[in-house]
Formats: sequence, C-alpha cells, structure tokens
Amino acid sequence: MNDQAEALRQMVGINEVNKFAQQEDMRIITVASGKGGVGKSNFSVNLGLAMQVLGQNPIILDADFGLANVEIILGERPKFNLSHLIKGQCHIYDLVTTSKYGLPFISGGSGIKDMNFLPTYQIDKISSQLAELSSLTNMLIIDTGAGINDIVVKFCKLAHEVYIIVTPEPTSITDGYALIKTLIGQFDLDTTIKVIVNKAMSQEEAHEVFHKLYYVTEHFLKRPIQYGGFVPYDEQLFKSVKEQVPVFEYNRQAKSSMAYYQIGRIILGDKSKQTIKKENWVSRFKKIFSH
Ligand SMILES: Nc1ncnc2c1ncn2[C@@H]1O[C@H](COP(=O)(O)OP(=O)(O)OP(=O)(O)O)[C@@H](O)[C@H]1O
Ligand SMILES: [Mg+2]
Repeated sequence: MNDQAEALRQMVGINEVNKFAQQEDMRIITVASGKGGVGKSNFSVNLGLAMQVLGQNPIILDADFGLANVEIILGERPKFNLSHLIKGQCHIYDLVTTSKYGLPFISGGSGIKDMNFLPTYQIDKISSQLAELSSLTNMLIIDTGAGINDIVVKFCKLAHEVYIIVTPEPTSITDGYALIKTLIGQFDLDTTIKVIVNKAMSQEEAHEVFHKLYYVTEHFLKRPIQYGGFVPYDEQLFKSVKEQVPVFEYNRQAKSSMAYYQIGRIILGDKSKQTIKKENWVSRFKKIFSH
C-alpha cells in the first residue's frame, strides 16, 4: 500500500469494522432509471451518507456523463475525473475526492462516454487501477444517467445489486418498465432488480406503484423484481438541493433522510449478495467494457 492510498484510507475513515470488510469483495450497487429527474443522484449521495452512519465507507461513482450531478449535490468541484485516468494523467487515487461531509466520490466527467469506445489495452489498464479501489472501500455506489443506453446497461451488468428508481408518475413507471425489459429481455441481466419508489405521497402509493411494475415484469418477462423501499416526497429535500447540501446533512430528521437511512439498513441486512457472489469484479469489468 503506498502513502497516498494510506492517506486516502485515513480520510475515508476506515475503522475497525471496515478493515474487516476489506477482506471481502467490494459490493457494487448501481442506481438507474428509465425516466430522468426521478431522484437517482439524490438517492446515491444520501444513501452513501446514510451508509457512512451505518459504519460503511462507500465511494460514489458519478457515471452520468456531462451532468456532474453528484458533485453538484455535494457542492464540490473535483480536479480530476475518469477522462484524466483514461488519458494516463493521474492515478485512480487522485480521482477519489472526499467531500466536506466525508463522503468520497469519483467524477466520471467525459471519461464515462469514452469508456464505451476504449481499446482493450486501455480497458485492461483502467481495470487494474479500478481493482485498487477495493483497498479503499467495501461499497461502490454508481449513479448513472437517465435512460436506456449502453453505458447504463454495462454498469447494471457490473453490479451486485441494481436499484431502479421510479416515481408515481405514469411515464416514470412505463419508462422504468422499459429499462427493466431491456436489462432482462435484451441483455439477460441475472442480477436481482430492486425498485425504489421515490416522491411517494404515502407507503400505500409506493406499494401500488411497485405492484404495477411487479405485475407486468412477472407477466411479460417471467422474472420477479423486488421492492427496495420508498422515499416520500419531501419539501426538505427540494430545499436542500437548492442550498447544495445533501438532505441527509441538511436535516437528518427529514422524512427523506430517515427513508434513506432505513433503506441503507435493509441493504446491509440483505445477505443475498453472498449467494449470488459474482466472479472477480475486475475481470467482469474487462469483459463487459471490452465489447
Ligand atoms: N423525495 C423527493 N422529494 C421531493 N423532491 C425530490 C425528491 N427526490 C428528488 N426530488 C427532486 O427531483 C430533482 C431531481 O432529482 P435527482 O437529480 O436526484 O434526479 P436524477 O434522477 O438523478 O436526475 P437525472 O436523470 O437528470 O440525473 C431534485 O433536484 C429534487 O428537486
Ligand atoms: Mg442524476
């Protein structure tokens, strides 16, 4: 372990629990949606903050090319992004920016788009650097861009768990289904898909939305999806975004903050990841991004 890695580990707050966690694989959680603007980036960042309180040391990867949602929500401006790594201008450790709330993140920048077209030797180079991330964290939360495209599909295939965010809006539900259909039907995703209902007015509404999606997926795709929980519609979140403070830091008692915390607890309690343990994720990364 070099000095920079050690310094980063100190910064990202590796404690006794996390030292133990390093023995395990890095858990990869990808957050996606069919429709844009449904709450993916807020989910990724606030879940990350909740995970820290729950004793984890997650890193957020902003895989939304061009929009830089994660850094805006965190009120940060990182110096480097994945395109610098691709061009060989920095090391993976330079990409890990620790935000003022102690949550480390990696900016994808234009590098995310480029990852789709890289020659194999460069994918190999990036893979070996990405492998070093697991010495910093036991959990990588990947925030993707809206819609169904190659990059989103690839990051979903890479993950141990895929979270699809929908809202009660009919177009969000149909677009959510379209993404699930693409992932399962076209790309044969074998990972369990969990649905989060965001901006729900009540638990009942969230359940209703989930059941609509569950029914069509089960009926037409013959594959069940799981309920991952819901985040209520919350004015506090709306205000926090305007102030560029993640709601979990803005007001921990806010309805949405408590929901993110609750979802974090459920994710940590879910041991199913162990049973679907994937092959080494770095070789998986190479395979997925090489063609
Ligand atoms: N639970 C919520 N309650 C109220 N407003 C919310 C909630 N979640 C998200 N929002 C609002 O929706 C906006 C979009 O959220 P966010 O940026 O997280 O969506 P996104 O899915 O990442 O969007 P994009 O597809 O553009 O990346 C936020 O700026 C906020 O105003
Ligand atoms: Mg976003």
